[in-house]
Amino acid sequence: MTVGDVTTQGPQPVPGSSAGATVERFLQVRRLTDLLASRLSPEDQIPQSMTAASPAAWHRAHTTWFFEEFVLGRLPGYTSPEPVFRFLFNSYYEAVGPRQPRPQRGLITRPSVAEIGDFRARVDEAVVAALEAGRVDDRGLELLELGCHHEQQHQELMLMDAKHLFSHNPTDPVYVHRAPDPAPAAPAEQDWLDVVEGVAQVGASDPTDPSDTTGRAGFSYDNERPRHRVWVPGGQVATRQVTVADWKRFMADGGYSRPELWLSDGWAAVQAEGWDAPGYWRREDGAGDSAATDGSAAHGDWTTFTLSGRRPVVDAEPVCHVSFYEADAFARWAGARLPTEFEWEVASAGWRIADELDPDRCHPQPATERTIGGVWEWTSSAYLPYPGFVTEEGAAGEYNGKFMSDQHVLRGGSALTPAGHTRPTYRNFFPASSRWAATGLRLAR
Ligand code: AVJ
Ligand code: FE
Repeated sequence: MTVGDVTTQGPQPVPGSSAGATVERFLQVRRLTDLLASRLSPEDQIPQSMTAASPAAWHRAHTTWFFEEFVLGRLPGYTSPEPVFRFLFNSYYEAVGPRQPRPQRGLITRPSVAEIGDFRARVDEAVVAALEAGRVDDRGLELLELGCHHEQQHQELMLMDAKHLFSHNPTDPVYVHRAPDPAPAAPAEQDWLDVVEGVAQVGASDPTDPSDTTGRAGFSYDNERPRHRVWVPGGQVATRQVTVADWKRFMADGGYSRPELWLSDGWAAVQAEGWDAPGYWRREDGAGDSAATDGSAAHGDWTTFTLSGRRPVVDAEPVCHVSFYEADAFARWAGARLPTEFEWEVASAGWRIADELDPDRCHPQPATERTIGGVWEWTSSAYLPYPGFVTEEGAAGEYNGKFMSDQHVLRGGSALTPAGHTRPTYRNFFPASSRWAATGLRLAR
């Protein structure tokens, strides 16, 4: 199947219908998932490489289930022809009911990958038909929009998870073919931006609040709201992300073997996991058998596993696949610290959003100044509810709020984040030891 086929398959919007823009948006999101999955064989789509990751087939089915549950399920008289999918593809919604245990998602070989494709097509048709018949009520339309943003999150997860799976295959599988990068450029200069002490407004506006005239009222998740005031102490935030070249200096200075640089839990992770470099990095110990895909890594060079196979690390790129613990230790080594999520939001106001997902690349570009994107950025902030946070009614209330313990906020977006999904108030979150997401950092002091 070619990429071209994927983008023209399935239901098409009816030109001129009032539901047209919504249908168009829905189908665009759905087709990007199909395009990204089209580079994976059925065999690639079944295994679950670790509990935190999910099979690609499961991502494709779960995102489809979300629309069936939250949009079609509201239509009077709707009953699913495949009720067992509610058990198989519910991720964590207690209000929906019991579900396949998360660590056992890779054991679901039925329905087949082809049948999951049929499930997607059936739900696409039913959603489009309901929209065009004007049968989706206002709450249904809100949930449809949530479902589109949800599917975009899963597009990134599907790529992270495919990379993790492929990294365990000694043949270094290629997800997307990509020419070697041009001769490595020197990393961009790093400057510091002054953040002036004072009260700042942070977070996203409630789009349904008529008294809110801040103009920040596009889609947001509940965890970005309410917009509120915080006190930001004065400081400085780096204008570019920490690069691979920066990280090599940390490593050369014994960064991974000096406990005084590390939080206690971080040092425990270094020892338990044997970390001596970012995730997916490997030191090449000889020409020949373990050389990088493009053959250019010499003895002692570091390579990293990418979605285009194993490649030499590139100095000018932002460092990627580091845990919160590593980011924190690096910052201490550098005589700096991580920014809080609010310093980050204030400092980055007006910066360019760039380096979102290019499906033909799936890898960060070299870091540039005053840019958000490429890699998610760890902040020092715990993932907590904003003052006045409201949990939505029903299962949708479980989307974000119930995960607000023991995780850190990441800001920005990454080269695996679908275009248009990155925004300045976005709060991503992962446990402090995670490094399979495209995670890096920028410094503050
Ligand atoms: C924000 C990436 C941690 O992976 O569970 C997917 C995204 N939320 N389905 C996750 C999400 C609901 C979420 N993360
Ligand atoms: Fe989900």
